[in-house]
Amino acid sequence: MILVLDFGSQYNQLITRRIREFGVYSELHSHRLTAEEIREINPSGIILSGGPNSVYEENSFRCDPEIFELDIPVLGICYGMQLMSHHFGGKVESSNEREYGKADITLNGSSKLFAETPEKQVVWMSHRDKVIAPPEGFTVDATNPSCPVASMSNEARKMYGVQFHPEVRHTEYGNQLLRHFVFDICEAEADWSMESFIDIEVNKIREQVGDRKVLCALSGGVDSSVVAALIHRAIGDQLTCIFVDHGLLRKHEGQSVMDTFSEGFNMNVIKIDAQDRFLSKLEGVSDPEEKRKIIGNEFIYVFDDEADKLKDIDYLAQGTLYTDIIESGTETAQTIKSHHNVGGLPENMQFDLIEPLNTLFKDEVRALGTELGVPDHIVWRQPFPGPGLAIRVIGEITEEKLEIVRESDAILREEIKNAGLDREIWQYFTVLPDFRSVGVMGDARTYDYTVGIRAVTSIDGMTSDWARIPHDVLEKISNRIVNEVDHVNRIVYDVTSKPPSTIEWE
Ligand code: XMP
Repeated sequence: MILVLDFGSQYNQLITRRIREFGVYSELHSHRLTAEEIREINPSGIILSGGPNSVYEENSFRCDPEIFELDIPVLGICYGMQLMSHHFGGKVESSNEREYGKADITLNGSSKLFAETPEKQVVWMSHRDKVIAPPEGFTVDATNPSCPVASMSNEARKMYGVQFHPEVRHTEYGNQLLRHFVFDICEAEADWSMESFIDIEVNKIREQVGDRKVLCALSGGVDSSVVAALIHRAIGDQLTCIFVDHGLLRKHEGQSVMDTFSEGFNMNVIKIDAQDRFLSKLEGVSDPEEKRKIIGNEFIYVFDDEADKLKDIDYLAQGTLYTDIIESGTETAQTIKSHHNVGGLPENMQFDLIEPLNTLFKDEVRALGTELGVPDHIVWRQPFPGPGLAIRVIGEITEEKLEIVRESDAILREEIKNAGLDREIWQYFTVLPDFRSVGVMGDARTYDYTVGIRAVTSIDGMTSDWARIPHDVLEKISNRIVNEVDHVNRIVYDVTSKPPSTIEWE
């Protein structure tokens, strides 16, 4: 097992993710873990992640200094390397300039980390501080014009540091570097797979739940379907799934989810019609974070009511992914948006949560779903957010606006499918900005809404690029929406990647 200590980088779970791809189990833990606790976990290696702090700031994140005395190999990445350098007496310097993006490094020596890779290579840097002199006993293994110590090591003590991010795909030999650390330096065993993940999680769930009952929040999307299948495997009929129609679903979605689950799965599924409840709470609300919190809260209140009827329900299972957690903000990471199932939960909740997917990314959940036998048409559904169309109607929500998004989205989905692009494009939907503009239809002036088309390619939703939908397909979608959906006279196409945008507009 490789332990990753979290110092707040948005990429830190990617590190554990890359290592699991090698078949080696890896977990992300708080940087507050003590050397004693780490000794009990007994990892083959420790990685100190990057993070936004400066080692010289008073309240910067630190780790227990004793972890450097455990005789376990350590790899420090970015802030992790600066922390290691600072601890052993090296010199870290703050500068006002940030170095962000691709950079070239030149190798100096024969560090095991860089074995069998070329002398010059491209890496991904994202930092302000840098190590300018390594600690005694450390050698400089790579340099770059603006960063004299791009990598350093003390091979005798099995301590390594890199200023760049090997976990990011743009670092050309990043995967090789991590492999060298994991296999050659830590000598970890490749004994982890999705099958073993299922065994571990099924046992954990059985142990946690015992003979008690679990409610699962089922939306029909990939994550909640996979979590339901996993928990069903663990505890069978002690699980009841609840599908809430909050009035913010896509066209015909309510019926299609119920059809899928009553036909394809042998599970207890209850549908709750709660449209009025959600829409009245959202009336007059235009702030995106407020909308998300109202919806997250209301979901739980609906589950509370159902649990009272069903009796003796102690647990609520959710298909929360790692991405939801990191974007909602953690002890170390900033809030980007409060995902309804994380930052949107009320404080006075009567359930304990079961979230077995919360260390996984979307593509891993898809692999898990396939392993569990969840049908392809669910595993490969495009993601749909829990707050639904509420975050695709920008600003205040009205029935009329919901109808415009619902109808335009149905047309977009139909045409993407007709063009055979539905598996290629990761997620595609329409949004309704909160403004109107002038148009002309027939001979008359119109003053109507604009619909935005958002279509992205991605692997895990953490980063994405805008999808290049062919112009003739876009033309057809645009014509159909303007002609078939009332009160729309203009269509725009969102051509931004994430970052700097996010996938959803709110
Ligand atoms: P963003 O907009 O943050 O979206 O780039 C990344 C992915 O997450 C989905 N998303 C959500 N999913 N609850 C969810 O279940 C939410 O509150 C939520 N917000 C965004 C989004 O659709 C995209 O796939």
